Amino acid sequence: MKLAVPKERRPGEARVAASPDSVKKLSALGFEVTVESGAGAGASIPDQAYQDAGAKIAPDAAAAVAGADVVLKVQRPMTASEGADEIAGMKRGALLIGMLAPYAAKDQLKSYADAGLTAFSLELVPRITRAQSMDVLSSQANLAGYRAVLDGAHEFGRAFPMMMTAAGTVPPARVFVMGVGVAGLQAIATAKRLGAVVSANDVRPATKEQVESLGGTFIAVMDDEFKQAQTAGGYAKEMSAEYKQKQAALVAETIKKQDIVICTALIPGRKAPMLVSEEMVKTMKPGSVIVDLAVEQGGNCPLSELGKVVKKHGVTLVGHANVPSRIAVDASALYARNLVSFLTPLVDKETKQLKIDPDDEIVKGSMLTHDGKIVHPNFAG
Ligand code: NAI
Repeated sequence: MKLAVPKERRPGEARVAASPDSVKKLSALGFEVTVESGAGAGASIPDQAYQDAGAKIAPDAAAAVAGADVVLKVQRPMTASEGADEIAGMKRGALLIGMLAPYAAKDQLKSYADAGLTAFSLELVPRITRAQSMDVLSSQANLAGYRAVLDGAHEFGRAFPMMMTAAGTVPPARVFVMGVGVAGLQAIATAKRLGAVVSANDVRPATKEQVESLGGTFIAVMDDEFKQAQTAGGYAKEMSAEYKQKQAALVAETIKKQDIVICTALIPGRKAPMLVSEEMVKTMKPGSVIVDLAVEQGGNCPLSELGKVVKKHGVTLVGHANVPSRIAVDASALYARNLVSFLTPLVDKETKQLKIDPDDEIVKGSMLTHDGKIVHPNFAG
């Protein structure tokens, strides 16, 4: 079985889909691994490190993917209209595995089918216990939550911890985290470690205990609707207009006392909820910072701008795109491990050949195209 790791070509993407550690594990599974030269540069992995782990180095993408049975990607392949046709060189019948963003790039699914690829989108892997080690949403969001706090600290003209010095006392920073999923929890933990006074808000009741166990204060409208805001899948529901109004009043009261706001609130498959209005931003202290991790889904604050750091009403709004790529070494290492976990059950241990069970819950949940057709129920037809 031949497996290829081409270099990521999308602008701003520093991650890579394999690490020296994952190359060793993939080789043990029976794969002959080829990495495109320079693929690991953004994640500080030189070609030599891949070679030492047992991979071959190909001079370009075409040579890397030629004849490969499996192609591992971070982001979806680029298209000819975007400047490079990354699918063209892939073999018919090959598996294409990556974060293919099928909702944002629905039109591309047909091109995978037409190219005869069996495409798997890792964001769609069901969040069942058996698939925890394959969960790319968690591995990347966790690092993004950490990085968001550091990005906020970088823009903030004051310190995080309280410092008592001979020249006077520096008060601790007040950090407010909105949305307590994977990214939000790590943001709380990181801000606490840096010495900030942390509070957080979410619409799912389960998060109250999680916030408190990390030493944060939980701030939320805890009415009857709140008690039922979590779906069976563990996600947030879209809240009613009445709840949103009550939440906005509470957030408005809270936010004026904060120095840093980390926004991470998302609702799967929808635009991110708008939580911090322009009016609220105006009430914040000059020099405060808002880091909007939801900016790629429309943002939790309408003033944040994708890919930019801007200053409005005296408040700095941080809207970096692709935050996991800003911590590319760890993000790549964890993503590469997610991929090994995903591939392991797809390989027959005896024959060392690919053997995909179409009835498996994880396969069914994440397979987009197969045998020339779009097969995922959310996209077929
Ligand atoms: P997410 O990225 O979809 O959303 C982030 C957070 O925003 C969530 O906590 C959500 O409740 C919150 N949110 C949505 N609307 C909001 C609003 N109006 N105001 C305030 N907050 C709002 O969530 P993520 O990080 O993907 O985690 C979602 C759930 O999945 C959690 O319960 C988490 O524990 C669970 N999970 C389960 C895993 C597993 O079983 N393998 C792995 C990872 C997460």
